[in-house]
Amino acid sequence: MNDLLTVAPTRSRVPLRHLVDAASLDRPLVEAILNTAGVMASLSPLDGAAPLRGRILACLFFEPSTRTRLSFEAAMLRLGGQVIGAQDALASSSAAKGESLEDTIRVVSSYADAIVLRHPERGAAARATRASAVPILNGGDGAGEHPTQALLDLYTMQAELGRIGGLHVGLSGDLKHSRTTRSLALLLALFPDVRLTLISPPSLRMEPEVIETLRVRGVEVGETGDLHGAAATLDVLYQTRLQRERFDGAADVMDVPIVDRRVLSRLPDHAIVMHPLPRVNEIDEAVDADPRAAYFRQARNGLYVRMAVLEWLLGARP
Ligand code: NCD
Repeated sequence: MNDLLTVAPTRSRVPLRHLVDAASLDRPLVEAILNTAGVMASLSPLDGAAPLRGRILACLFFEPSTRTRLSFEAAMLRLGGQVIGAQDALASSSAAKGESLEDTIRVVSSYADAIVLRHPERGAAARATRASAVPILNGGDGAGEHPTQALLDLYTMQAELGRIGGLHVGLSGDLKHSRTTRSLALLLALFPDVRLTLISPPSLRMEPEVIETLRVRGVEVGETGDLHGAAATLDVLYQTRLQRERFDGAADVMDVPIVDRRVLSRLPDHAIVMHPLPRVNEIDEAVDADPRAAYFRQARNGLYVRMAVLEWLLGARP
């Protein structure tokens, strides 16, 4: 029998699943994805396994990206699949001619088996699910969510510290506009005894509704503007950049606290420093040489986690 037909089941046999936000995931699913990511990390590219042979991933990026797009593309290629896409899609796709997001998704979903979408508008990925015949993966929707980043962040904590439950995590920087910290906080809330310290200037606080949701789910949440003071009891210091592109007016723009040697000197020896990247200047480059600087290892983990996510959404399972 034709091998391609046995490897790639027809769409009607695969239930349509999307990954739009933290609410798309529960703890067993998160743990299954992290376990699969661990297996992916142990595979050699030379193994020749190609579970997604014959499948096509479309990457539609309406906002800049380095890691999310390239790690999704590399993940699909490593699993034997293929990739089509538009980067800079606001200018290079028919959006530039005035086509709606829904129409673009309708058409692209007839060419590909899944779509990774990054878009400047919050809620764009949820809108896309209503127009799509194939799974939508949210690669970041404005200041909304970034669930695959949150999964790779959890994977990194697990890989570096051996656990997720019980950790004291400091989320620092522009928590108002950062989609990575919102998704991460909500996924951390699935694990027991997680303590969160939110470190930001008052005008860049995490949305009160999100903080309330976290508390209702049993997370102990504290807030401070003092990064140096907070560092001493953290297991994870997760730093983010100022999301200047999401500010309404220049008058709002201010600086976020910087992780430098002084902050490192306060951080416990076992702790790690994470950052979704890109870093602008909120982590001093002098920090890079410290073994606790985990952000480049974290970016590498994105490949394994996205392989696991693609295998979950597109793999040949009933
Ligand atoms: C993040 C994003 O796009 O939200 N980047 C990423 O995907 N690693 C963080 C950021 O841009 O600040």
